[in-house]
Amino acid sequence: MTNATRPLIAGNWKMNVLREAGDALARALVNRWQMAEPRNVELVLCPPSTLLSTVGNALEESTILLGAQDCHWEVEGAHTGDISASMLSDLGCRFVILGHSERRGAYGETDKKIAAKVGAAQAAGLKTIVCVGESLAERNAGKTAEIVESQLASSLPEEIFPEDTVIAYEPIWAIGSGKTPNIDEISYVHERIRAALNKRFQPEVALPILYGGSVTVGNAAEILAIQEVHGALVGGASLDVEAFCTIAESCS
Ligand code: PGA
Repeated sequence: MTNATRPLIAGNWKMNVLREAGDALARALVNRWQMAEPRNVELVLCPPSTLLSTVGNALEESTILLGAQDCHWEVEGAHTGDISASMLSDLGCRFVILGHSERRGAYGETDKKIAAKVGAAQAAGLKTIVCVGESLAERNAGKTAEIVESQLASSLPEEIFPEDTVIAYEPIWAIGSGKTPNIDEISYVHERIRAALNKRFQPEVALPILYGGSVTVGNAAEILAIQEVHGALVGGASLDVEAFCTIAESCS
């Protein structure tokens, strides 16, 4: 891991946890992380929208930052059921995950829509974790790099704050499956992402590239030691305080 900024470990609770349990989980995380600090790692927690306030309160006195899992691309208006980026900022969010494959897949979110969301989120002062990743069929067809580069090119808006941008490489087939690419494969894709970013951003910006997809206590150290891996987006294991902190402590 070589990067000027601190590695980032983001927990994505997805559509899990009710209020009481969420409050307890966040408070347990704060206590456990306090025992671990000072650590040279940035921790972000992304609970479902219903828990942003509760978890935000629990994190208030800690160094752990609050993030959301999605936002709308418009500033405000007639969008029943949606949440704007400024609403997230208003709740104390500092980050938002955008373009997660579960949203690309279930809601037909296109690269173009994701780029609009990134623009809206950054305009509202949020840091954006932009997800890219190939399906199993695309991987089997040898198209991983091509797909990832194409998503990357189209999911970032023209007007962008690189310093507020984080990329997460998440192979779709690795998410929640217990399977991961091998170290060489992760390393290769991250290098391709880095090369694409270096072409796009001149002068070059050391924008963090996270890996996500079945990160566990067992594989975190090896994955986080890869040169172009600057942290992880953790789903299932982020619901377990000890596992999540142990993963974060694996950043060397
Ligand atoms: P997982 O999820 O760690 O449960 O595989 C990762 C993600 O979807 O961000």
